[in-house]
Amino acid sequence: MEMVQTTSLAFSGIVIILLSMAITAQASDTKPMSSAIMLEACKNVSSNFFKVRFTYDFCVSTLQSDKRSTDAKDYRILALVAVDAMKPQATAMTDKVENLIHGATKDKLAIRALGFYRVDYGGMMSTLEICQDIIQSFEIRKGNEGPTPFDLPDCIAKTTKAINDCADKTEFTSVSEGLTKEYEELSMMASLSSCLLHLYITSPPPRGLGLDIPSN
Ligand SMILES: *[C@@H]1O[C@H](CO)[C@@H](O)[C@H](O)[C@H]1NC(C)=O
Repeated sequence: MEMVQTTSLAFSGIVIILLSMAITAQASDTKPMSSAIMLEACKNVSSNFFKVRFTYDFCVSTLQSDKRSTDAKDYRILALVAVDAMKPQATAMTDKVENLIHGATKDKLAIRALGFYRVDYGGMMSTLEICQDIIQSFEIRKGNEGPTPFDLPDCIAKTTKAINDCADKTEFTSVSEGLTKEYEELSMMASLSSCLLHLYITSPPPRGLGLDIPSN
């Protein structure tokens, strides 16, 4: 009996060890991974901070949050990830705006400005859907069919305009300071999306795939 117990104890010990090894392996699987194409793209688009207003680290952390970046076959997929990342950010911003409109501020001027934001936001989300569709289905043009390469960054430029308009309207109101962080984050994401799309359309085919990337 004692023999059996010892054996089964040893056995469960092994099972526990194996289980925890499996869990560790899984945990490292879900750790954000970076791919050479992603790092190369981020290095390229963040090279002029004063123009683009986001850093290399911002680019990497935004792209890293999505598994598609690791398997990206060209820069287009990275741009798609950046465009997707704008949606939850815009939603978070809207939640904050709604909260301010519904009583968190007594500033009439601010409430009116935020009302404009709400209208612009609706347009912005629809625009993002369209941009996403254009980017997703984009193929190099054969003849005159389909969107031109410049339709890609042009689409994102519309959202940039909406973001800037909103920031301008609330600028001198009491809520301005409380929304600065959200505006900045959203602007950086729009800038990142736009830069990645420019990189995609200006890189020679296969647009990122043919990179001669050093392994370190
Ligand atoms: C970024 O990529 C473009 C297109 O491939 C290239 O012409 C340019 O030299 C690169 N710039 C930097 C700073 O790497």
